[in-house]
Amino acid sequence: MCGIFGYVNYLVDRSRGEIIDTILEGLQALEYRGYDSSGIAIDGDVPGETTIIKRVGKVRVLKEEVASRDLDRAKIFNTHAAIAHTRWATHGSPLTANCHPIASDEAHEFVVIHNGIITNYKALKALLESKGMVFVTETDTECIAKLFKHIYDQSPELDFTQLTKQVLYELEGSYGLLVRSSHYPNEVCATRKGSPLLVGVKTAKRLKMDFVDVEYEKPSGSASAAAATTPLAGTGTSSLLRLDGGQLRSSVSRAVVTSGNEEESSLTPIEYFLASDPSSVVRHTKKLLFLEDDDIVHIHEGELHIHRAKSRQAGEAATREIQTFEMELNELMKGSYNHFMQKEIFEQPDSTFNTMRGRVDFSSGKVTLGGLSQWLPLIKRSRRLIMIACGTSYHSCLATRALLEELNEIPVAVELASDFLDRRSPVFRDDVCIFVSQSGETADSMLALKYCLERGAITIGIVNSVGSSISRQTHCGVHINAGPEIGVASTKAYTSQYIALVMFALCLSNDSVSRADRRREIIEALQKIPEQIQTVLKLEGQIKELCDKSLNHQKSLLLLGRGYQYATALEGALKIKEISYMHSEGVLAGELKHGVLALVDEELPIIALVTRDSLFPKVMSAIEQVIARSGKPVVICNTGDSILDKSKLLAALEVPLTVDCLQGLLNVVPLQLISYWLAVNRGIDVDFPRNLAKSVTVE
Ligand code: UD1
Ligand code: M6R
Repeated sequence: MCGIFGYVNYLVDRSRGEIIDTILEGLQALEYRGYDSSGIAIDGDVPGETTIIKRVGKVRVLKEEVASRDLDRAKIFNTHAAIAHTRWATHGSPLTANCHPIASDEAHEFVVIHNGIITNYKALKALLESKGMVFVTETDTECIAKLFKHIYDQSPELDFTQLTKQVLYELEGSYGLLVRSSHYPNEVCATRKGSPLLVGVKTAKRLKMDFVDVEYEKPSGSASAAAATTPLAGTGTSSLLRLDGGQLRSSVSRAVVTSGNEEESSLTPIEYFLASDPSSVVRHTKKLLFLEDDDIVHIHEGELHIHRAKSRQAGEAATREIQTFEMELNELMKGSYNHFMQKEIFEQPDSTFNTMRGRVDFSSGKVTLGGLSQWLPLIKRSRRLIMIACGTSYHSCLATRALLEELNEIPVAVELASDFLDRRSPVFRDDVCIFVSQSGETADSMLALKYCLERGAITIGIVNSVGSSISRQTHCGVHINAGPEIGVASTKAYTSQYIALVMFALCLSNDSVSRADRRREIIEALQKIPEQIQTVLKLEGQIKELCDKSLNHQKSLLLLGRGYQYATALEGALKIKEISYMHSEGVLAGELKHGVLALVDEELPIIALVTRDSLFPKVMSAIEQVIARSGKPVVICNTGDSILDKSKLLAALEVPLTVDCLQGLLNVVPLQLISYWLAVNRGIDVDFPRNLAKSVTVE
């Protein structure tokens, strides 16, 4: 995902070369997040001039571009503000024009880098265009840069903070934002809403304080307070012309290093590092200040001020703490989690939301997949859908196949990429082949894609990594936007692939009147999924105890599921064997009596997926068969379902109820946690299990 890095030096001599190296290294430290392009903005040779350099591809490519420019690397800047960005394309494909920093105009009066999505950008764009502004990128970010210029042109007397507040009143959506401007040389404004941002502080002297005051708006009916409560963005009315003149900063701010002596503090050499995550900052300083949503940081003449656009509400802190981080870089990236896998499991409320963001309109019940819209008529006319993938990605196909068939009545085949190729399975021009892959680089899936392209089929990618081979080589597709997945065991990619495929099924059936009720039911249920996953994650304590007491010492484990839950059983079994090295098998409950039942005794642990759907009685009967053979199952059931006498169960893990075709999104989470805790208890390196790689680029 996108990464932000900014560097401000004040009374510290730095050559242009050093400044460039600092920000490029900052970007390289953010590379692990995944991105498709990058760029920097620094001072030019003429005062007030901004040089922007950006390139599609890796930071290495940007470095080469910077090196090829005729820049005077030796020029010394005693004070300077530089900003830099790695972009994971959201609005607009990965083209140089769409890379950040994005400028307001050709003169680069305002230059912006932005993480997140501005949801009302269309309305803002229309408004700014009506005022004569010409947009040159496909990004939502450009409306921010242009908004700065527009408001500034109306009211050049505003200071940088006031101007930023005016802009923020108009923005809807999420953002981590850094802005520099030729009108405010050597200053930076930074703000966040739903997107992380922090500031690292470096001084030769010890910091005198470990906090910074927050400067709130005055509560009374001041113009800006009124503006804060009545944002007009998106309404088409010209709130952009409204200004709260006379609101000059009046509260007393403290610079980070003051000793109470204003004069002395303004002469203290200081450096600031602004970033979307700490990994790029801790190599420079361990003194970190994490911003909160709606904080506006203004760095000017060595001072850092934190402003809020609204008056202080009860319970809101009056200061932000400067924390000292002693953790290793690797630990820091994992936050409070012990492993990336655990972090990624716990990210699922956010990652599933991000997959739907901007695509599912819950109020109108409309699903729009921008990457497919032009292709939909052709896809709808296809004779067959073939879903092709490996491992976990294959399971996401299995999990959603029934829904695709139900909503569209097009035959759907689900294929393991290697087997599909081994069979040289027939593929025709009127087939649509869907390639699901987290990395977008899996060799088996790539070869199958080549095979289908050669046969003239339409190909669709459902991919996490923007710019990956599958994403580039398919005709069209959907980026699942789960964010980078680092743990070898795929967790958040599974739930996001699942949701992307559900959205695909909904899109395909968007003109079917007879299925309108079913579609509405699913869309309403989708909205609740992130929150429901959050609820399921609370089971971690119970699951850890179950693993400690009853599962650790086992050699083998069976997972039973039926219908939609068969895929969940397979996915759970894969997770368990992959990272805990315990043999585990996902079994279709209906197949139990055709062989597997022979394994069942009082020893073998069995996890049964018995959430409520039309197959519930049949799964219950499978459980009865297990219990009759002295088996003691763990059940994953819906909250409040007393399906069996508890004494007959090893444990009941209760998850919220959702619509049948989405229940697998909730049921898989306890299985991810079981695999995680089994592996941890066995001392296995969870993120790097033996013999496995994150990206399987060989056949
Ligand atoms: C765009 C944003 C997305 C945002 C959404 C809603 C981009 C790259 N994405 O998504 O972050 O949430 O608007 O505002 O701007 N493609 C392939 N093969 C693949 C995957 C994608 O060809 O495997 C193509 C698509 O057909 C499309 C482009 O890549 O042309 C971007 O895909 P996607 O990110 O899914 O597009 P949107 O849904 O429009
Ligand atoms: O990157 P892909 O989704 O194409 O990878 C496919 C499989 O290699 C992958 O899902 C693998 O099964 C995971 N390690 C499972 O956790």
